[in-house]
Amino acid sequence: MTKQTITVIPGDGIGPSIIEATIKVLDKAGCDFNYEFADAGLTALEKHGELVPQETMDLIEKNRITLKGPLTTPVGEGFTSINVTLRKQFKLYANLRPVLSFKGTKARYENIDILTVRENTQGMYSGVGQVVSEDGTQAEAMSIITRDGAEKILTFAYETARKEGRKKVTAVHKANILKSTSGLFLKIAREVAARYPDIESTEMIVDNCCMQLVMNPEQFDVIVTTNLFGDILSDLCAGLVGGLGMAPGANIGEDCAIFEAVHGSAPDIAGKNLANPTSVILAALQMLEYLEMSDKAEKIRAALIDVIASGDRTTRDLGGTHGTTDFTDALLDRL
Ligand SMILES: NC(=O)c1ccc[n+]([C@@H]2O[C@H](COP(=O)([O-])OP(=O)(O)OC[C@H]3O[C@@H](n4cnc5c(N)ncnc54)[C@H](O)[C@@H]3O)[C@@H](O)[C@H]2O)c1
Repeated sequence: MTKQTITVIPGDGIGPSIIEATIKVLDKAGCDFNYEFADAGLTALEKHGELVPQETMDLIEKNRITLKGPLTTPVGEGFTSINVTLRKQFKLYANLRPVLSFKGTKARYENIDILTVRENTQGMYSGVGQVVSEDGTQAEAMSIITRDGAEKILTFAYETARKEGRKKVTAVHKANILKSTSGLFLKIAREVAARYPDIESTEMIVDNCCMQLVMNPEQFDVIVTTNLFGDILSDLCAGLVGGLGMAPGANIGEDCAIFEAVHGSAPDIAGKNLANPTSVILAALQMLEYLEMSDKAEKIRAALIDVIASGDRTTRDLGGTHGTTDFTDALLDRL
């Protein structure tokens, strides 16, 4: 069998250290991948004069599977978000962000298992019609929802729910106020829900959803929503299971996928051996499941659960006193 080649983008800030940890874990678990490395973000800007060099785009295109560290998008005019660019270029329409309680974290809840399915290319992040008036007194942006886009993400959410044996899908919207965009999304949510009688379908307005997630998160199973709401709700969900160090994300298209941590490049702790690599390791587990290597994913997940529950060499955000390398060694010891 030919070896699977993965494009690896170490990224900026804490990116290279948590990606290095993840590759050690994948190798120790016997995944036997080839890795081809590429630059993006601030690192690429400094080395090649652009945020996403053509060689990086070509490698993503060629290998179709990418493991990516967080990227810093420089603040200021002229720089569009690299993540938004990649999602659009490779038509990665679905963003899957699972959160799961791990014993031993400082999380407020113990029984969370929520999958947020976020539409990844439309809505307020379409990047269309961003205008600030010449006198700087008015700003505009356009939100676009299409029937095709909504139907695709909703169907994806229900199909994923079926595949993972999940029981309930909640469509989150703001159709009472955003009558055109959220209204269309909700209309299609109801149509798609009718095709899946085996799964319980509910709908919820986004502001109520935020409150419910904080007060009674155990009621949620799969949340499916538009781009901006999904971005915000999935960070809220990360907070329920111990913070951004515990939250992975998969960007999925028709035949291309990019796996990453939900968090950013954490410049405040970069270069200090303090980052928790769990998010990007969990993203790698999503990648293994995508590649139908669930046995390897389960092996690594079991090791992670054990390290975090026992508190053996855990990082500060998990209540420990150790750094990225010690935490990784604790995982490697178990594998
Ligand atoms: N997917 C991505 O590439 C992505 C996502 C979000 C933000 N960003 C970029 O990252 C940069 C920094 O953004 P920010 O500071 O708002 O958010 P951030 O997610 O980088 O950091 C927020 C807080 O969480 C902590 N944190 C994040 N990841 C951690 C980890 N693995 N272990 C321990 N603590 C962790 C940080 O120390 C910080 O206190 C910005 O340039 C932003 O554009 C990139």
